[in-house]
Amino acid sequence: MEKKQLGDKMVMPFTIPSGIVTTDAATIEKIANEIPEIGIITTKSIGPVPRAGNREPIFAQYQPGSYVNAVGLTNPGAEEFAERLFRISIPDNKFLLASIFGANKEEFLFVARTLEEHVDGFELNLSCPHAKGLGMQLGQDPKMVAGITREVARNTSKPVFAKLTPNAPNIAEIAEAAMNAGAYGITAINTVGPKPYMIDGNPVLTNKVGGLSGAEITSIGLKCVSDITQRLGNIPIIAMGGISTADHVRSYMSAGTSFFGIGSALIGMTDLEIAKYFSELVADLKSGANDARFFLNDEVKMTYSRFKVAESISFGGSFKVVKADSYLEASPGQFVFAWLPGIGEKPFSVMDDDPLTLGVLEVGPFTKAFNALQKGDEFYIRGPYGGQMPDIEGKNIALVGGGSGIAGLYLHARELSNNNSVTMFFGGRSQDRLFYVDEFRQFGKVILATEDGSIGERGKVTDILKAAPGTYFFNCGPKPMVEAVLPIELGISDPESIFSSVDYLTKCGVGICGSCADKKGSRTCVEGPFMRPIPR
Ligand SMILES: Cc1cc2nc3c(=O)[nH]c(=O)nc-3n(C[C@H](O)[C@H](O)[C@H](O)COP(=O)(O)OP(=O)(O)OC[C@H]3O[C@@H](n4cnc5c(N)ncnc54)[C@H](O)[C@@H]3O)c2cc1C
Ligand SMILES: Cc1cc2nc3c(=O)[nH]c(=O)nc-3n(C[C@H](O)[C@H](O)[C@H](O)COP(=O)(O)O)c2cc1C
Ligand code: FES
Repeated sequence: MEKKQLGDKMVMPFTIPSGIVTTDAATIEKIANEIPEIGIITTKSIGPVPRAGNREPIFAQYQPGSYVNAVGLTNPGAEEFAERLFRISIPDNKFLLASIFGANKEEFLFVARTLEEHVDGFELNLSCPHAKGLGMQLGQDPKMVAGITREVARNTSKPVFAKLTPNAPNIAEIAEAAMNAGAYGITAINTVGPKPYMIDGNPVLTNKVGGLSGAEITSIGLKCVSDITQRLGNIPIIAMGGISTADHVRSYMSAGTSFFGIGSALIGMTDLEIAKYFSELVADLKSGANDARFFLNDEVKMTYSRFKVAESISFGGSFKVVKADSYLEASPGQFVFAWLPGIGEKPFSVMDDDPLTLGVLEVGPFTKAFNALQKGDEFYIRGPYGGQMPDIEGKNIALVGGGSGIAGLYLHARELSNNNSVTMFFGGRSQDRLFYVDEFRQFGKVILATEDGSIGERGKVTDILKAAPGTYFFNCGPKPMVEAVLPIELGISDPESIFSSVDYLTKCGVGICGSCADKKGSRTCVEGPFMRPIPR
């Protein structure tokens, strides 16, 4: 596929749309450097001030290939994001497109000016369907669209794309208003809706309604871009909405568009899988084939299953082991999302799979509500996610855990003790922070450390780890613990044999939202959660 002119650059004509995968600066840098076919790197929509966005669930699959989201324009604010962009480096042959939003033209201009020196162009988010007073509420009015576009186009030196909503009676009229006001091009479409998605009478998204993306909106996207090109002819259009195969790209090309965004279709893919997918897509476009579709993850499990609490065992007040009434197949390192309608959903390691068992430390609203569940109460589970444990036989294994991270090592202990010698090193503030110790003992030797000396050695897990016979290490616990044990383990073993899981903010679990990126930009929900050490 040929490169295309975009502003003053020639770039490959693919992007991942705003809000999907490339939401963290480190992930932007990683994808820009590792995937040649992605010529345009689109940022998450950035506003004038930080926004926490909505609590989870923020993203759900309502039918195979089709999704609903209400992330809530989560972003660190323009000034902080500018600093993050300053610290990364993007290849010269890539176009960094900053998606920006605001409540009025002054806010749009403030964000654009704050980011201007770090980016190649702007995409005005005039189309988010679920944020009050922002996005679509501005983008349905051609006069408002023209005013905001003119303000940014006149007062900055970078090309401006207006990203439009399909939820307007006449998208072509709005596109024309934007082009007449100085837009360089149009991005179309944003998500459709907003709409609710209900399970057993409960809205899944915390926001109750969200924008639709993926397979079900392909025909809407195609109709919108055809309407625009019929009215405006051959203008630069970044087309998106349910593109997942070369056939879709060809249809959007026939509708007269030049650049293509592929978002929801990337669900569940690791970085390597995204790279292979785009490479196959480009090969398909050259050869006329449609084989990139075989890379799509039709099997991603986002369906919720209902469980009942069979037993809830308390360990010192704030920690509980909750056993469900049935089985969930999972392997070591995998995690699930537990959902309580009306309260939210959060990720937890699968502590045991038969019956499904979670070990939950109370730290906030969800874990408080979950630990208050009584025998017979219901909760929902989706997953499991992550995993990919290496095959290990005849080795010395050290499992190193702290806090609720100990729960994430129980399946490792059970499975690895079949063919290996397993030693467990657990640390906590006091005896009541260490749980399930007798159950772990059936799989190998357990060595404990507590800060108050109430059980095991007085001190931290680093104090007991020095004698580790490990050739393989699996660490699970708070970030400071993992950072403290890594130098010791790297003195005993090689980086290939050390795996660590820390609790990155994991909101979707399927690689879409980008919130769980580590400092190298890897999305830990699909690449991990147990990751090899990052070289310093
Ligand atoms: C892969 C994975 C496995 C986990 N396994 C366990 C487990 O087995 N047992 C356990 O007790 N906890 C586990 N956690 C952490 C657990 O998800 C958080 O404690 C929980 O989300 C807190 O929700 P809350 O509403 O109670 O608190 P909130 O008030 O929402 O948050 C309190 C703190 O919890 C953390 N947190 C909040 N939301 C998330 C999120 N979506 N992802 C990660 N951290 C978050 C943040 O540090 C936050 O400051 C795991 C996290 C991940 C990513
Ligand atoms: C989880 C998620 C977050 C999104 N966040 C944004 C956003 O911040 N700004 C924006 O303009 N569009 C956002 N979108 C819309 C996408 O950029 C894109 O327009 C839409 O998903 C259609 O493409 P797709 O069907 O290939 O996913 C988001 C979509 C999803 C699924
Ligand atoms: S990409 Fe959403 S949590 Fe990992």
